[in-house]
Amino acid sequence: MNNQSQAAAPQPPTGGAAPDTDFGFRRVTQAEKKPLVRAVFDSVAPRYDLMNDIMSLGVHRVWKRIFVTRLRPAPNRALLDLASGTGDIAQAWRRLDGGPVLATDINAAMLAVGRDRATGRGMVAGFTYVVADAEMLPLPSGCMDVVSMAFGLRNCTDKAAVLREAHRVLKPGGRFFCLEFSRLQIAVLEKFYERWSFNVLPLAGRLVAGDSESYRYLAESIRMFPDQETLAGMMQDAGLAQVRFENLSGGIAAIHSGWRL
Ligand SMILES: C[S@@+](CC[C@H](N)C(=O)[O-])C[C@H]1O[C@@H](n2cnc3c(N)ncnc32)[C@H](O)[C@@H]1O
Repeated sequence: MNNQSQAAAPQPPTGGAAPDTDFGFRRVTQAEKKPLVRAVFDSVAPRYDLMNDIMSLGVHRVWKRIFVTRLRPAPNRALLDLASGTGDIAQAWRRLDGGPVLATDINAAMLAVGRDRATGRGMVAGFTYVVADAEMLPLPSGCMDVVSMAFGLRNCTDKAAVLREAHRVLKPGGRFFCLEFSRLQIAVLEKFYERWSFNVLPLAGRLVAGDSESYRYLAESIRMFPDQETLAGMMQDAGLAQVRFENLSGGIAAIHSGWRL
């Protein structure tokens, strides 16, 4: 992190609350986690897209392309993109003839980068941007055809609440899609993947963005995220039906989906 956001480094629990959630490999209280995650994305926002390309060697673009195709964009379908960040999913949805998109994120800096980029490309109509916490959506029930979340869920404190909210705001017959890092299924690649995540990523973060701590958090948060089966179970618990997943790049990432019936 840069010097300013280092001020947001984890503090000892205040008010006697016990650490009860993860921030990367560290245990923090639920109240502490959100400002910490916000500080990470405030710090990485200006270089987020470049760093994504470096961190994934460009593969995130392929994963996102597959993901958006799975959403089945169509002009008569409305998309809610949760943790929209710099807007890759929202913009690809519109490029593929999707209907109106509501791009939401808890971090105004990330949304602003995405909005400016879309506007710079002449993509204005059909976009609405709202700063919103995916755990408490300011939306009525049953208003969306599709809800998407790409690389956002692992940053949320109460993941079960996010999944319940996604289910709530979907119309009956609507579908939720989640693209997230997941559990590598190819044992021989594990050592390489470990070194990449914990040595190369923080170093690249330091060299390109002057911020190794944020990129260390991103690597740690991937390891702490539930595996494919566990996430599928959490989605079922939230009320989503016919939950399934498909692995990408041997399980480095996975696309989960489930219906609101
Ligand atoms: C890794 S970025 C993903 C951005 C974009 N979806 C993409 O695929 O490039 C994660 C995003 O999650 C957002 N985020 C974290 N916690 C959130 C929450 N509780 N509600 C909504 N967004 C959240 C962050 O601000 C950040 O923009």
